[in-house]
Amino acid sequence: MSTTRRPLIAGNWKMNGLKKDARQLSSQLAKRMAKVNRPGFDMVVCPPFPMLALVADVIKGSGVKLGAQDNHPQVSGAHTGDTSPAMLKNVGCSYAIVGHSERRTDHGESDALVKAKAEAAIAAGMIAIVCIGETLKQRKAGRALSTNRKQLQGSLPQAATAKNTVIAYEPVWAIGTGEVATPAQAQEVHGAIRAELEKLIGAKEAAKMRILYGGSMKPGNAGELIALPDVDGGLVGGAALNAADFWAIAEAAG
Ligand code: PGA
Repeated sequence: MSTTRRPLIAGNWKMNGLKKDARQLSSQLAKRMAKVNRPGFDMVVCPPFPMLALVADVIKGSGVKLGAQDNHPQVSGAHTGDTSPAMLKNVGCSYAIVGHSERRTDHGESDALVKAKAEAAIAAGMIAIVCIGETLKQRKAGRALSTNRKQLQGSLPQAATAKNTVIAYEPVWAIGTGEVATPAQAQEVHGAIRAELEKLIGAKEAAKMRILYGGSMKPGNAGELIALPDVDGGLVGGAALNAADFWAIAEAAG
């Protein structure tokens, strides 16, 4: 965490919960957020698509922001089952996660597609949270840093700035496994990502861009991760489904 970058705590609800769960979770967070005078962090929740409008209503005016878990690269058209960034923005989203490893795996998303999605999210006026991360096999083969550099080069939107783009480093082996990256592992990759960003977008923007850690972040490990020099918050899955846990993670950030 640095004093110049405002921490971001993002909750990725994935494909979990029905209307009553979405309402309860978002209203608990909105109530807590509304009570904080000047939060030292930004908070965003990313519910499943059918819950977005409902959650938008619940969190209105609280300071908690709304995000989508994905978006199509185009604004409209014949794409059955897809959701355009313009629609997401229209229902209240100010963030969109793109390139999550579960989408890269489940839907075969390439770096080029992730880049196009991020660019579309930005064009619609949202902040793209671009996810990258190595598998256990890649890490064991000594390719953790090179994999993340390559994904970053291929997925970073063309006109990326610290204002319209956030990077999320999510080691695939740590997602939903309870196995979290050690502080040394996290800082090594985050540092390498920032160094690569310097080459891609210049030192000034790179110094301002937020890089989140994701993968089994919990109240018990969030503090030491977010305290690392190049970790600027978290993309939280499992622990984001519990208001008290998610709030505790946010408090560890600010
Ligand atoms: P997890 O998921 O916190 O459940 O590991 C993180 C993510 O996939 O964004």
